[in-house]
Order: sequence, then structure tokens, then C-alpha cells
Amino acid sequence: MTPLARPFPQPQTRPPVGHLGRWGTEPLDLLEEGARTGPAFALRLWRRAVVGYSPDWNRMVLRDLDTFRSAGSLSRLTPYLAGGVVRADDPAHHRQRSALNPPFRHDALSALRPALTMAVRQALPTGEFDAVPWAAGVVRRLLAVAFFGGRFPEPLLAEFLAPLDRDFPAPFLRRPWLFRRMNRALARSLQVAEAGTLLAAVRDSGEDAIEQVRVALGAAYDTTAHTLAWLLWHLAARPQPVPAAEHRQLLDETLRLYPAGWVGSRVCSRDTEFGGHLVTAGTLVLYSPYLTHRDAGLWPDPLCFRPERFARPPAAFTFIPFAAGARRCLGMHLARLLLLTVLEVVSHERTLVQVRGEPRPRAGLTLAPSGPLVLR
Ligand code: HEM
Repeated sequence: MTPLARPFPQPQTRPPVGHLGRWGTEPLDLLEEGARTGPAFALRLWRRAVVGYSPDWNRMVLRDLDTFRSAGSLSRLTPYLAGGVVRADDPAHHRQRSALNPPFRHDALSALRPALTMAVRQALPTGEFDAVPWAAGVVRRLLAVAFFGGRFPEPLLAEFLAPLDRDFPAPFLRRPWLFRRMNRALARSLQVAEAGTLLAAVRDSGEDAIEQVRVALGAAYDTTAHTLAWLLWHLAARPQPVPAAEHRQLLDETLRLYPAGWVGSRVCSRDTEFGGHLVTAGTLVLYSPYLTHRDAGLWPDPLCFRPERFARPPAAFTFIPFAAGARRCLGMHLARLLLLTVLEVVSHERTLVQVRGEPRPRAGLTLAPSGPLVLR
């Protein structure tokens, strides 16, 4: 056996289903068990898979778009993500990102701030409330402001995004009728899209605005909403008001402990070596922000919520809530803007207190709180 043929370690399997059953019922436990076998480990899912979580693994998988392709990866399994830039591989991916990136840059988005602030003020909660549905509602509104200047039929947007709030298999089911209605509404909005909205910017980029915006909304909604629910939960746990200068650290620590994209996937297009092991062509290659962010070798006391960790920038490829490289989240700056705007308005206008909740993460299409997060 050559050194390259050394097999990856793997967590215990249950023949004949391999790891597939546990992947469906307790994927986080399975990943954590695998991580104890080594920095990269094999899983027997419906196809051969290798998961890694070290910075070296992340660098390899996220930087080499030619070897690690999107075609055949997990995002194809849900109609919400199977399209537009998410579906594309190079050279189409490079072309699409070059066209789409400018309006999603930090500077370009800052003009949206006043309208977003106003929308949060109008949605402020009173009394006791569950942060999970509240966050979902406010993120929907903010996305409607950012993409459509607030002019999009709210019930249709809610109906379109609702399956993303539900358990497996809801986010994975095809809904051709609903998608057709959404496409038609997007086409109508395109005709009247006002300058300054993301819809108009995507249209002017020359991209297929209907598909790109529909996919962006699917990628944006539950990721941002779940992050916001946890962010408010931890804000409410702070004994003192959090000064505005520390909001960014609070957000980064939330994204570290609860990275909504808990696992990302590619398909290996050619035999590749990693740490003396061979990743064969055709392997499903997974990287896991969840494992990287909870690695005690990278983050001391990883389970403690400590925003001060981010007083200094983290080392490369140790903090990847939005992935990295040319496929880094298109909406990273938008998500951060939405989340920091809510944090700013809520901390200015309200003092939140935790009432009861179940913040433990649960892995579906994205990472979500296991139960309600009730605040007052
Ligand atoms: C806290 C909120 C968010 C998190 C944690 C998050 C996380 C991620 C991650 C990890 C990826 C890479 C997936 C992969 O490797 O396959 C990604 C990609 C993507 N995200 Fe986000 N995202 C968030 C919000 C948003 C928002 C607001 C948008 C709206 C534009 C968005 C649009 C996208 C798109 C279009 C991609 C695909 C990029 C590409 O393949 O080139 N995301 N996101």
C-alpha cells in the first residue's frame, strides 16, 4: 500500500447503511464523533464522502475551484439553492460573480441603512416574544426593503420562504407552482424596479435577475434569521448594555458558535492528496464551519460565548461562517448590515432579558435553534 492510499479514519458505521442514517437524524453528533478520529475523516453516505475542518483543509477546498466543483454537491438537493450563481462552476461562476459582486460590496450597500433602520423600528417587539419567529419576520421585511425597496407582495414572499422554516423534507421538496408564481412576481417587480434596490442592480448587471434574486433570497433568509435569533439571545444574556463599538464582536462570536452554513460541499474532480491520504475523483468533499469553529485547538474553551476573542482578527481559515475564496457568500456584507442594523436599533430602544429557551443548535438545511428563544 503506498502512503497515498492510506484510508481516512471514519466514525463507527452501521452496515449496510453506513453513516446515512445518522446523517439524517443526528448529523452534528456524527461530525463531532468523526472529528475525534482525525482532522479529516470519511463518511459513507449515499456516496463516498470526506469531511475536513482544519485550516489547511479549508484552504485547499475553498481556494481550488477547479478541483473542488459545485456540480453534484449538496446545494443541488434543494430547489431553493439549485440555480443561479450557487449552481454555476467556472468559467460561468467567475463571470456571474464578477457581474453580481459590485452591488453586494460593503460600500455599495451602506445607502440602504436608513431604510433598513426604519423597517426595524416599525417591527420592534414588545412584552414577551419568541426571538425565532420574530427574527424570521424582520429578516423577511429587511430583505424586501433591500431587494425591492419594500415593494413586493409580502404574503407571496412569506409563502415562498416558509418551507425553509420547516423540518426535513420541506426545504428539499420541489414546488413548481409556487416557484412559477414567485418568478412571475419577480418579473413584474423587475419592470418597475427602482434605482438603489438590489433587484435593479442585479438586472443592470446583465445577469438573469429572476433566477439570481430568487436564489439569493433562498440563501439569505433562514441563514440570517437564525443568526439573528441567537444574536438577540446572547445580547439579552449580557449583564450590561453592549457598546456599539462591540457589536461586531458580538456578531462574530454568534457566527462562530452558530454558523448557519454548518457544512458546505464540493465534488472532487481529480485525485488529490491531503495529509498523506488520497481524495479520489468523484468524492463528495465537505468542509464544516461548525467543526472548525468548535475546534479547541483553534478556539480555547470553544463552547463559551466570548465576543472578546474577536478583539484581534482570527487566523486565516479558522473563521469561515461565510466560507472563503471566490465562492465566499455573495451576501456576506448584506447579512452583516442587516444583523448589525437590528442589533443597533434593538439595543438603543430596548433592554432585552432572557426568559427561557433552547439555544442548542439543530442541523437542518441550515443550523437553527432547537426550540423557542423567549425574551422580554
Ligand atoms: C448570516 C447569514 C449568512 C450566512 C451564515 C451565509 C453563509 C454562506 C456560506 C457558508 C456560503 C458558501 C456555501 C458553499 O460553500 O457552498 C454562502 C454562499 C452564498 N450565499 Fe450566503 N450566508 C448568509 C447570508 C446570505 C445573504 C443575506 C445572501 C443574499 C444575497 C446570501 C447569498 C449567498 C449566495 C448567492 C451564495 C453562493 C455564492 C457562490 O456560490 O458564489 N447569503 N453563504
